[in-house]
Amino acid sequence: VIPLSLQRRVESLIQDHYDRALLRSDKANAMLEGNSTSEDIKEVRPDANQGSLIDAHVMEKILYRKSFRMKNLQRTWQESPEGSKMLTFRKSLPAYREKERLLSAIAHNQVIVISGETGCGKTTQLPQYVLESEIESGRGAFCNIICTQPRRISAMSVAERVSTERGENIGESVGYKVRLEGMRGKDTHLLFCTSGILLRKLLGDRNLNGVTHVFVDEIHERGMNEDFLLIVLKDLLSRRKDLRLILMSATLNAELFSNYFGDAPTIHIPGFTYPVRTHFLEDILESTGYKLTSSNQLDDYGQDKLWKTQRQLMPRKRKNQITSLVEDALKNSSFECYGSRTRDSLANWNPDCIGFNLIEAVLCHICRKERPGAVLVFMTGWDDISCLRDQLKAHPLLGDPNRVSLLTCHGSMATSEQKLIFERPPPNVRKIVLATNMAEASITINDIVFVVDCGKAKETTYDALNNTPCLLPSWISKASARQRRGRAGRVQPGECYHLYPRCVYEAFNEYQLPELLRTPLNSLCLQIKSLQLDSIGKFLCAALQPPEPLAVQNAVDFLKMIGALDENENLTNLGKYLSMLPVDPKLGKMLIMGAVFRCLDPILTVVSGLSVRDPFLLPQDKKDLAGTAKSRFSAKDYSDHMALVRAYEGWKDAEREGSAYEYCWRNFLSAQTLQAIHTLRKQFGYILKDANLVDLDARTCNSLSHNQSLVRAIICSGLFPGIASVVHRESSMSFKTMDDGQVLLYANSVNAKYQTIPYPWLVFGEKVKMNTVFIRDSTGVSDSIVMLFGGALGKGEMVGHLKMLDGYIDLFMDPSLAECFVQLKEELDKLIQKKLEDPTVDIHKEGK
Ligand code: CDP
Ligand code: MG
Repeated sequence: VIPLSLQRRVESLIQDHYDRALLRSDKANAMLEGNSTSEDIKEVRPDANQGSLIDAHVMEKILYRKSFRMKNLQRTWQESPEGSKMLTFRKSLPAYREKERLLSAIAHNQVIVISGETGCGKTTQLPQYVLESEIESGRGAFCNIICTQPRRISAMSVAERVSTERGENIGESVGYKVRLEGMRGKDTHLLFCTSGILLRKLLGDRNLNGVTHVFVDEIHERGMNEDFLLIVLKDLLSRRKDLRLILMSATLNAELFSNYFGDAPTIHIPGFTYPVRTHFLEDILESTGYKLTSSNQLDDYGQDKLWKTQRQLMPRKRKNQITSLVEDALKNSSFECYGSRTRDSLANWNPDCIGFNLIEAVLCHICRKERPGAVLVFMTGWDDISCLRDQLKAHPLLGDPNRVSLLTCHGSMATSEQKLIFERPPPNVRKIVLATNMAEASITINDIVFVVDCGKAKETTYDALNNTPCLLPSWISKASARQRRGRAGRVQPGECYHLYPRCVYEAFNEYQLPELLRTPLNSLCLQIKSLQLDSIGKFLCAALQPPEPLAVQNAVDFLKMIGALDENENLTNLGKYLSMLPVDPKLGKMLIMGAVFRCLDPILTVVSGLSVRDPFLLPQDKKDLAGTAKSRFSAKDYSDHMALVRAYEGWKDAEREGSAYEYCWRNFLSAQTLQAIHTLRKQFGYILKDANLVDLDARTCNSLSHNQSLVRAIICSGLFPGIASVVHRESSMSFKTMDDGQVLLYANSVNAKYQTIPYPWLVFGEKVKMNTVFIRDSTGVSDSIVMLFGGALGKGEMVGHLKMLDGYIDLFMDPSLAECFVQLKEELDKLIQKKLEDPTVDIHKEGK
């Protein structure tokens, strides 16, 4: 910004000349409209770059004109009939009463923290107030406001909403940008984006030049990206004294954030909600005629410290105790309105699972007996939602579209469905929304009166692009339960059904543990490295709640193990590429290797499948049939990953023949999941292209896709060190991981069907901890594959000679590389076989 005095002097000096020049052509008129770029300026004023001062001045002048135009547009809309109607609505939101206080706080402080009930207007109003006031003061074109959201879908829907409120199309003054998608134009001055996008922007421009205000929304969720962003922004604030940072949160732990930013002022937006009546599991039972008397036992259960600290599972003893209580209750209750299925489901009530039948019963109860009003059901994730939806669709009442409008709300929903969630249903139709914890705070559905809360939450596994690792469902926090309950009281007094006993609620943690403290830090550490920040450990120490040094060490070790970091913790070539790919480093490596070794197609399917979820369905009552259907795809491959590839390819063929529906039905496959895999495959393809790793020429990057053992090897290269040795003893088989732990195969794995497996190793994507540790999808691999493709490639003794991937990434266009490896592998196989047959053979002599 030019100092005012200097600006005036320059202004008077060049005013005449400038005006004449400006009006020289049509281009100049366009500039007056504010539709110009610096290229245009050069065209009209070829002498402009003689002095950058004049350049800046011209630009400034243009921006003022543009600001003037923005102001006119804004006023015209606000004075129009629809505009003023919209304004009346906006003025009814609690945030409006705090508008002036907020604006003045933002003007006088570099950082402020704002909290307020969900729905009070934080996300849609506050950034908009700033935009409007800047426009009103004639500086509209000078401001650049960024507002981050934890999820893609909320960034998109909020941008859409704010555009509507401003009487514009999306992409005019308001836009959004999420990974691989965006709508913004050169007039966009308020941008909603995911936190991941802002982090990436910081990667390219560490000073965020040109950005005037940053809003970080939903910080109470303590997502990894948000916590990471706060560290980076805190550092940036000292360099960019003019930058404004506004933190927004739903619940009231504002002090934590305020302290972190040197006691930044906090503002609370008081909201109004109606009272919500709470029903816990015992109340639900009681309403069916049974009074729970053995509550002492339940209390005992609730206070179990062990369980409190262990997030995921309850101790078996406690579980039995509570299950037997519920069973007891059932024997004595009548359950007229719930029917016998409920009786079964309650009898099998298991704190570790979500009882679909119980949810069905509660929904039935609401539809039959309760007053009108929409129902919001909190589920853990997409899998649960889609299973429950299928079950409810088959129900005579809940599946009847004339009486019930059944909708879902989750990260991967279609835009058309998104709109339906916010709309009111026709009269006498009850809206039921099955949602993930996304509906807890970031999305507000106005007409909710009933909330059904299963008490669990899981990170959405869909958003693979944000490289969120898949988590088991775990109990939510008290804050979350309160938040969920609050959703019922927005328009009138509401009801909330918690499908767990009160004592379980009492044992919940106050707040959820920040993501930074409960997930592997692999990709975060990679990002820190690529942002060229401090040493990883030192950098993370600056976090709001720093992670354990051990967790950091694990991540660094992991990155070294897969070859993303070298011994001195510097990014390797592979690491650089991995940090460009917005996926988990493991999967990123598999993709890169798939491209380098020219078998991209099957690898794209495997990686997408691992990022989305398993398309093989496992209906409780048809487990055997489903299992048989799945093994048909494995054809003695001893690989769940290959089965997935076959299933996907079969689906594509069936789709071409128009028989996709029948194909899925016959093979127990989820069409929706396959579709999601299909979409993700494409996105990964583009990402690889963006990173210059493939030219997307199907032939070159797939010339070796038919080579089964190479595909296996690439799967191994990505999943390593997820590897278990197959131990055959007498007639049984057991599996041991690298850390010597015993693991079992998941029942749904094709490998679980065999008595023996003719491979010495199984590589796997993830371990799941239940009472014992299970491995989910696995693929059998040979010794030679592990030697060549396990580990850092370039570290091991064998591969040391090859000076592998790091150098080769740049050479990957050379097709002979992959073939060379296939050959090498075959020779190695022969050698190993020889050695096994005759232990006296010296393979070092034999091998070339
Ligand atoms: O961010 P916060 O939870 O405080 O609220 P918001 O998302 O800004 O929403 C404020 C209000 O705008 C909601 O209470 C809804 O009434 C309305 N809104 C809407 O009608 N349609 C949307 N897509 C988003 C918000
Ligand atoms: Mg919000």
